Amino acid sequence: MARTFFVGGNFKLNGTKESIKTIVERLNEAKLAENTEVVLCPPAVYLDYANTINKKSPQVKIGAQNTYTKASGAYTGENSVEALKDIGIEWTILGHSERRTVVAREDDELVAEKTKFAIDSGVKVILCIGELLEERKSGITLDVCKKQLLPTIAKLTKEDWDSVVIAYEPVWAIGTGLAATPEDAQETHKQIRDFLKEKLGEELSEQIRILYGGSANGANAVTFKDKADIDGFLVGGASLKPEFVEIINSRQ
Ligand code: G3H
Repeated sequence: MARTFFVGGNFKLNGTKESIKTIVERLNEAKLAENTEVVLCPPAVYLDYANTINKKSPQVKIGAQNTYTKASGAYTGENSVEALKDIGIEWTILGHSERRTVVAREDDELVAEKTKFAIDSGVKVILCIGELLEERKSGITLDVCKKQLLPTIAKLTKEDWDSVVIAYEPVWAIGTGLAATPEDAQETHKQIRDFLKEKLGEELSEQIRILYGGSANGANAVTFKDKADIDGFLVGGASLKPEFVEIINSRQ
């Protein structure tokens, strides 16, 4: 079964109303490859605005960068999936390495809990995994990815996986300009898919999309084109620039 190409744009903590307008309007006007799904994830403050000016739905959707394990209550600073649904947001990123290691100490168990809660509440998830540079150097990339995935695998039903896209983002490649080579990324994606096959069965493992993230840009995206297990990108810096359209169209 062919997996639909998927490109996520993670704006991280970047953007103003004006710059987000420019990005969304650029996509509104661009010719985007058919059979490609796009999710733009601006900072939470701008979700409603971005969703209102997005004219490319259903091909382009707006997503959050994080959600919590509760719908409401005394959880200062968190994003509620119920609030997202209230303003028409259908996607969220979860488990990004910056939340795991920089802005919060999110562990695999919490990420799994958030993932299950989001899906049960009707919000789809871009689930991020990936190893640190030391872990890569120690040759434990796959072990790290397995460890990050296991609590989520334990919590989700088979049907839940229809609402998940995995983003493999080697942390050493994020924001460094040093993307993984297409060959290295493909090797890890294949190993991740084999692990999913072992845990979830062949049919399901073939349906789950695995994105690559880490210094993807308008020039290198096309070099990943013929890699069988790379089903798209989660893009940070380049999603803020005009070259994002080239990444979206890199499978044409
Ligand atoms: O979520 C996106 C990734 O962290 C990649 O960021 O494209 O700026 O390296 P980057």
